[in-house]
Amino acid sequence: MQLARRLMAVREAVRDLRADGSTIALVPTMGALHYGHLSLVARGREVADHVVASIFVNPTQFGEGEDFDSYPRTEEADRAKLESAGCALLWAPSREEVYPAGHSTSISVSGVTEGLCGDSRPGHFDGVATVVAKLFNQILPDYALFGEKDYQQLAVIRRMARDLDFQVEIIGVPTIREADGLALSSRNAYLSDDERKHAVALPDALGETAAAIVGGETVADAIIAAKAKLFEAGFATVDYIELRDAETLAPVETLERPARLLAAARIGKTRLIDNIAVEPR
Ligand code: PAJ
Repeated sequence: MQLARRLMAVREAVRDLRADGSTIALVPTMGALHYGHLSLVARGREVADHVVASIFVNPTQFGEGEDFDSYPRTEEADRAKLESAGCALLWAPSREEVYPAGHSTSISVSGVTEGLCGDSRPGHFDGVATVVAKLFNQILPDYALFGEKDYQQLAVIRRMARDLDFQVEIIGVPTIREADGLALSSRNAYLSDDERKHAVALPDALGETAAAIVGGETVADAIIAAKAKLFEAGFATVDYIELRDAETLAPVETLERPARLLAAARIGKTRLIDNIAVEPR
């Protein structure tokens, strides 16, 4: 696996990979890699000839008081994982390489960024959209892979790619989970043993709520029960649990089309997010 830390170098490496007409899939990450990330690399290898992964803890998507400084940085281990997953090139730029002094352009997507994490993390999706747009321009991939774990982020990137005519196919990849159902996340590393045990209430509550809604319970009542379950399990706050249209992310009061149940909640100091499909019978 090649490693590039400068823009000139990554562009040259990508040009070389493409020289024989090969296609490129991009897997953007912030590192602290787990099997969720590696499933994106595996899918990338299925759709394209070469996978380029990026590791960049993007400062502009972290809000004041969020975990930018403490975000896990494990580059050496990440490199080994990417290498064995068959990644061709790692793009791991410095902050200055991505945001040189005077950088003053940002991308703001409306609509799908409203509500859910858009409300609890103001400015977050502008930071995501801006860095992903830059990654698209830096690598010029044919495909880019994103996890359904961050369902609203996937919707934001699809919207941005369409609206700005990026010539890249966005591919969503299903969430990889632990044996008990907790979605893999770099932030799970923050959980104490006790918090980890109780964190499974989040996917459990989503599963039970989805089943209740499909079974005919009103969305509002099912969500009240889900919140109660989370508080009972020791979650400190619930930022949101909402049923949204699977495509447009518009709020859903009655299940008629494929929908998505999305939640964000805090256990101890850790904010966890998750979501699952809810399909009418
Ligand atoms: P990060 O949280 O590192 O996630 C990188 C990619 O891995 C995202 O597309 C995310 O949805 C996916 N992912 C995370 N956990 C997953 C799981 N359990 N199963 C499947 N996929 C999973 O998301 C970001 O970084 C950043 O916002 C980024 C897009 C890189 C922009 O900075």
